[in-house]
Amino acid sequence: MGREKSGREIQHLKKIRWNKVFSARQIKIVEPEQRNGNITIFELAVICTAVRNLTDPKLIIEIGTFDGRTTLNLAVNSPPKTKIVTLDLPPNEETKFELAPFEEYFVNKPVSGERFVDCPTEMKPYAKKISQVYGDSAAFDWSDYFGKADLVFIDGSHAYDYVVCDTKTALKLIKPTGIIIWHDYGEWDGVTKALNQFFTNGMRDIVIIKSSTLVTLNNNNIFKI
Ligand SMILES: C[S@@+](CC[C@H](N)C(=O)[O-])C[C@H]1O[C@@H](n2cnc3c(N)ncnc32)[C@H](O)[C@@H]1O
Repeated sequence: MGREKSGREIQHLKKIRWNKVFSARQIKIVEPEQRNGNITIFELAVICTAVRNLTDPKLIIEIGTFDGRTTLNLAVNSPPKTKIVTLDLPPNEETKFELAPFEEYFVNKPVSGERFVDCPTEMKPYAKKISQVYGDSAAFDWSDYFGKADLVFIDGSHAYDYVVCDTKTALKLIKPTGIIIWHDYGEWDGVTKALNQFFTNGMRDIVIIKSSTLVTLNNNNIFKI
């Protein structure tokens, strides 16, 4: 993957080093092996650091489970009582918008969240914190979680319409001090175009984490910059 997904959209957002955004924290990474579809180990470390920066998080939401590598790490790096809700699109499910070309590769898999479903015994207490939900992110009923999420990680469909829709959803999901993190800015044109537009239209506090394709929202001035 990779050839067909990007290249045309210019990156408008400012790049900031991870430690200007989040304070350094001790993190734990499990399942380090990166498969096609996973985020990089550096991106995983940044997200785990973001989680460790949260104060008493109750709810973390991920859009786009895939094999659950990030999901499991969200569980490992959050307090025992934090609930992790991860949504994935089942194969052959009708979608509200068209997916980006070649995305079926990530959708068509025998199981979502393999890394926490089929995990070693010592990982089971973390896996228990995870609730797997299924559906199309644009059609899913998120209302139970409105205003409750400490962190939302957006990594579902990379099609422009989905990034716009998932971003609007995330803005409803997060608490006033919550963090939103997007993956694949500069990598998939749909993500780059959508976030450039949000920026131009007034969401001025989004920045790229340098050396990654992660974008994060400086909600309520949480950044150190
Ligand atoms: C790139 S993978 C996610 C990678 C994962 N977050 C990680 O960090 O390893 C994208 C995932 O989003 C799911 N997906 C695609 N379109 C979706 C939609 N409309 N609603 C919910 N999930 C979707 C795919 O099934 C796939 O599992």
